[in-house]
Amino acid sequence: MKISAFNGSPRGNNSNSLVILKWLLEKAEAEYSINNINLIDKHDEYLKELDQSDALLIVLPLYTDAMPAIVMKFFENLSNYRTHIQGKQVLYIVHSGFPEGFHSLPLKSYLENLSNKLNMAHYGVVIMGGSEGTRHMPPKMLRKKQAYFNKIGSDFASGKPLDNEVKQALFEPERFNKFQQIGFSIFRALGFTDAYWDKNLKKNDAYDQRFATPYKDE
Ligand SMILES: Cc1cc2nc3c(=O)[nH]c(=O)nc-3n(C[C@H](O)[C@H](O)[C@H](O)COP(=O)(O)O)c2cc1C
Repeated sequence: MKISAFNGSPRGNNSNSLVILKWLLEKAEAEYSINNINLIDKHDEYLKELDQSDALLIVLPLYTDAMPAIVMKFFENLSNYRTHIQGKQVLYIVHSGFPEGFHSLPLKSYLENLSNKLNMAHYGVVIMGGSEGTRHMPPKMLRKKQAYFNKIGSDFASGKPLDNEVKQALFEPERFNKFQQIGFSIFRALGFTDAYWDKNLKKNDAYDQRFATPYKDE
């Protein structure tokens, strides 16, 4: 089994997606290559290599309720290589900053449709919320998630079906219950939810543009 694995994060090697990708592959009995989709000039090279692969594994973060633009570009390029991927297994992992899984459901429908249109063997879409801290957190705190992704990766590589219990555990909470919603509102009112992102906006000199709506009709 040879897996072509793709990291869909614009952050490339410094991403949560890469951490998740490594968890998926570390227990998988397979040969694999890891390809960063943010290196757009390499797409053709990656896609040509798909001829030699048995399966595709794509990990992507949710950006503004959708896939990052580089991933869209990659999928458009992928559609030119239909003959290289027909009938091959494909597994997608979608993860988001918001903890509730439901934010990623529209993208899940899109990905199911994509597999269908490209005649790929759709293995599944796994959704996980609350991923932003992944690359900074001590591994000890992430053991459970790591074990879940280890299981998904090794099942994928050995031709076993996707474990629905593991998939569901990662997807939850689909939505916060009332108690969690109140807790989150308090957290937000105290400024904790925005502080981290505001700091990043300031660091990138973009804080003044935080309410910009470049595509909105005037
Ligand atoms: C520009 C940008 C837009 C984002 N939009 C969303 C969003 O709409 N919903 C969400 O839940 N998380 C959103 N996030 C959070 C990312 O999904 C989250 O931080 C993820 O862990 C990033 O993964 P990466 O390090 O692999 O890129 C956004 C992050 C960035 C930087």
